[in-house]
Amino acid sequence: MKIELMKDSQINWQRDSIACLSLESCNFFESLPKKEDALVPHFIQQIKNKKIKQELVIPDPENKRYLLIGDTALCNYYSEREKIKILASRVLKISQNLNLKEIAFLINHSEIKDEYIQDLMEGLILGEYSFDKYKRDEKSETLSAILYCSANRLGDLKRILESQMVIGNAVNSARNLINEPANVVNPTNLHNYLLSYRNKYERLTVDEFRGQDLKKRGFTGLLHVGAGSKHVPFMGMIRYKSTNKSAKHLVLVGKGITFDTGGISIKPSKGMGEMKADMSGAAAVLGALKAIAHFKPKCHVTGIICVAENMVDSEANRPGDIFIAANGKSILVDNTDAEGRLVLSDGLCYAEKLNPDYIIDIATLTGSCITALGRDIAGVMGNDQNLTDQIIKSGEETGEKFWALPLPDEYNELIKAPHADINNVGDGTAGTITGALFLKNFIEKSKWAHLDIAGPAYRDKVWKYYAPGGIGFGIKTFIQLAQNI
Ligand code: BES
Ligand code: MN
Ligand code: ZN
Repeated sequence: MKIELMKDSQINWQRDSIACLSLESCNFFESLPKKEDALVPHFIQQIKNKKIKQELVIPDPENKRYLLIGDTALCNYYSEREKIKILASRVLKISQNLNLKEIAFLINHSEIKDEYIQDLMEGLILGEYSFDKYKRDEKSETLSAILYCSANRLGDLKRILESQMVIGNAVNSARNLINEPANVVNPTNLHNYLLSYRNKYERLTVDEFRGQDLKKRGFTGLLHVGAGSKHVPFMGMIRYKSTNKSAKHLVLVGKGITFDTGGISIKPSKGMGEMKADMSGAAAVLGALKAIAHFKPKCHVTGIICVAENMVDSEANRPGDIFIAANGKSILVDNTDAEGRLVLSDGLCYAEKLNPDYIIDIATLTGSCITALGRDIAGVMGNDQNLTDQIIKSGEETGEKFWALPLPDEYNELIKAPHADINNVGDGTAGTITGALFLKNFIEKSKWAHLDIAGPAYRDKVWKYYAPGGIGFGIKTFIQLAQNI
């Protein structure tokens, strides 16, 4: 979406449709419209009477332009910062429904914090996103926003807008990848997408293991899960190298199952279509690296994506199959639907080879995590309290919620197998935790955290400022975390 910043002295009261937003603590806008403006009496009265029960639309006598008024007090439950994003996206939707081409936001109050204006921008950029490329007749109109601020803040706010654009575009590009159906985003096409990162961003290098390279390195998890698909599996690596000599190294590992039928342990057909989003972890890693390449933080970041399609076929994994994982441990595939942990085993083993300081994997790993935490909150588990805390904090700063679950050693009993070192499933209890404990088998020495984003990765209804579909969950947290490290 096009967003412009201008000095408030340039506002055209006679022409522009204007949005005035209020917070519980203060208003975004300072000066009211000039006296001669026809809208002013309505406007002042509405504010005075505090009758604002929903976003208010006040037309001019000819219905050519509007004054939109919104108050964050109307967006329940959320933090003030999330409320601003929600409000921004609502005002945007109203403007689209009014068929406006342009909407002006008055943001010239001297006491309004930079971070609130940043939230307004985020709400606009993420709120404007829609995935309607396959709809012939219902494409949403393009709308641009002009933010009118006081002249002395123009420079600072321009920089903030630029970074919000980078973050927003990273999130929205991941949403596109997730929303594309699995007949389009399959391992073959996702491989091509990965290669498109090559030579595009300064300080990023792209590598891949595919076919014989996977075999040679013993990346059997990917090979076994991908065996039932005509699209061959691969591991993709994107490295960002900081110029900082003593930089910490963070590795992000994403689950990239482009479609999860469950394999021979096939899923029920109801809701199976959502499994096109089973590559949301990989999409988050790809999105985060794009933004990190731009912000150039002082830590090295490597993104690893483990990509395969979990299909039903005569070549597919069978329940009861045993294979040797990349670290030499034998795995019983008791359930072919617990495939995410199998492809991640390779990603984690490779991550350890890079001797990083931190490894974080991100995956739509278990339905149990939705049962435990619902759709709004992701699970976090790991072996380092400080890393877990850092993730939760970065999430709080960006509006993504994580909740820590325990990782008790005694639950390893649940994933013991009669004829192999590890079972890929437990007995149905503590499904999210046993998933994480399985992954822990591939961590040797690094500080590690596992993010189970099965809940928030994909939403079938509007959620906060997000249209239904892929959310790009985790990207904002990763960008923030890389900057905090
Ligand atoms: N991709 C699914 C998990 C999932 C379910 C994500 C619903 C988002 C929404 C994963 O591969 C899976 O099938 N997990 C199994 C694990 C079980 C077999 C131990 C599950 O959750 O049932
Ligand atoms: Mn599965
Ligand atoms: Zn899956």
